[in-house]
Amino acid sequence: MRRKLVVGNWKMNMTRAEAAACVETFVEQVSAGQECDVAICPPFLAISVVHDLLKKTQIKTGAQDVFWAEKGAFTGSVSASMLADAGVSFCIVGHSETRGRFGKLEVPAETTGYFAETDLTVNLKTKALLERGISPILCVGETLSEREGLQTDNVIQAQLKAGLDGIDGAEFAEGVIAYEPVWAIGTGMTCDSPEASRVCGMIRATLAEIWDEDAASRVRILYGGSVKGANAHELFAQPDIDGGLVGGASLVADEFHRIVAAAK
Ligand code: 13P
Repeated sequence: MRRKLVVGNWKMNMTRAEAAACVETFVEQVSAGQECDVAICPPFLAISVVHDLLKKTQIKTGAQDVFWAEKGAFTGSVSASMLADAGVSFCIVGHSETRGRFGKLEVPAETTGYFAETDLTVNLKTKALLERGISPILCVGETLSEREGLQTDNVIQAQLKAGLDGIDGAEFAEGVIAYEPVWAIGTGMTCDSPEASRVCGMIRATLAEIWDEDAASRVRILYGGSVKGANAHELFAQPDIDGGLVGGASLVADEFHRIVAAAK
């Protein structure tokens, strides 16, 4: 039986002082005991302050990105071993914002997105994380035009096959897949829960095709995209949804706590 998992993705929000205040409040609220796994992914600079506060709890620290090389002349980058050293247990890879499929600034980066994430770099990052014992949270999802063009399943299957290329199921047992429809991120438009569950089921079937049913059954598959206290219960009650990857609502301790409480 897979344990539910709720992950907060703070994106580019929170100074260290704000991060500490948010985590302190949240930890007090969940101190009665949480019945699911929880992780918080702050920006790199707040990882150490967040990890210090979470160390004495069951809540894990995550990161939002990683570079795949071990070390060297890669200005601005952070490696998986640096994340492991900082106490990171989970790391997001292939988020639609880093893939450049969402949230583009008004800069001429149309062809690559400004972080230039591709299926190949997602795969390299996933491998680097697994080598360091960090659980990847591999994000997949379709844009609105892909959904309207009935390409949802094809796009996601291609992202999974490329992102997991050369990785075997046993290695990925602690890994996580997050289904985040690009059109539902930060828009307030949640994917209907039966449809979100259908896509998560399709993702598990694809994992079974890539590996086998047993390996596929171990991986947690989260839904992300405008998850809130008000819709979390219905989403998490769906048979194929193992929890949530939460953006905006994870920045407010009370709201994040409501979401965690819905994941029993
Ligand atoms: P929102 O919850 O703000 O829609 O963001 C979802 C997301 O991108 C989490 O990674």
